[in-house]
Amino acid sequence: MHRVLQHPLVDHKLTLLRDRGTARPLFRDLLDELGLLLAVEATRHLPTVPTPVDTPLEAMEGRRMDPRDPVLVPILRAGLGLLPAFLRLLPTAKVGHLGMARDHATLRPVPYYKNFPPELEARPVFVLDPMLATGGSACEALAEVKGAGAKHLTLVCLLAAPEGVARVERSHPDVDLVLGCIDRQLNEKGYILPGLGDAGDRLFGTV
Ligand code: PRP
Ligand code: URA
Repeated sequence: MHRVLQHPLVDHKLTLLRDRGTARPLFRDLLDELGLLLAVEATRHLPTVPTPVDTPLEAMEGRRMDPRDPVLVPILRAGLGLLPAFLRLLPTAKVGHLGMARDHATLRPVPYYKNFPPELEARPVFVLDPMLATGGSACEALAEVKGAGAKHLTLVCLLAAPEGVARVERSHPDVDLVLGCIDRQLNEKGYILPGLGDAGDRLFGTV
């Protein structure tokens, strides 16, 4: 099941982000702001527990997040662009890292690094990547975190191709999928159209 953000600020910031003329500092800031909007939606179903609290006026029962801290797993490199926003909303989150590079010829993901915190089973796990194109990297990433024990999974992507969404939903129907926008299609090189180009390159200046 997927949800797509519907918000005028997403439309506005995404349009600026897509613009080929947007320079790297602004690109980073926009991705961060869009990350915050995604984080609000992605955390909508986080478990909370009843907690008594004394306000200056009286006692009441509030709610706090379940003490088992969530886990954020950015897919390197571009997923790092979403991490600071998620950490601002979830400052006690643990962070795992997953290195995944798309082979430009085959478009298949090549895993190159993995480091997860312990006890994934009991924690909500958010896998972060701004781009969902063929879906190969996301499917491999979800298989890796499931292999490490994760059971409560949300995949968060800013821009998606319909092909990638269908592939993730087919391969991982149990995963909650939160998206900023679904674009028209992939091109023959596996890039999202109209898209925003190569997110990692634009974020880190490796173009
Ligand atoms: C990009 C993007 C995704 C992947 C999406 O990463 O950040 O991880 O491609 O494509 P897919 O859905 O077809 O697998 P890339 O491999 O270019 O690495 P980078 O983030 O280091 O630039
Ligand atoms: N990865 C990107 O960064 N951009 C695309 O359009 C597809 C994959």
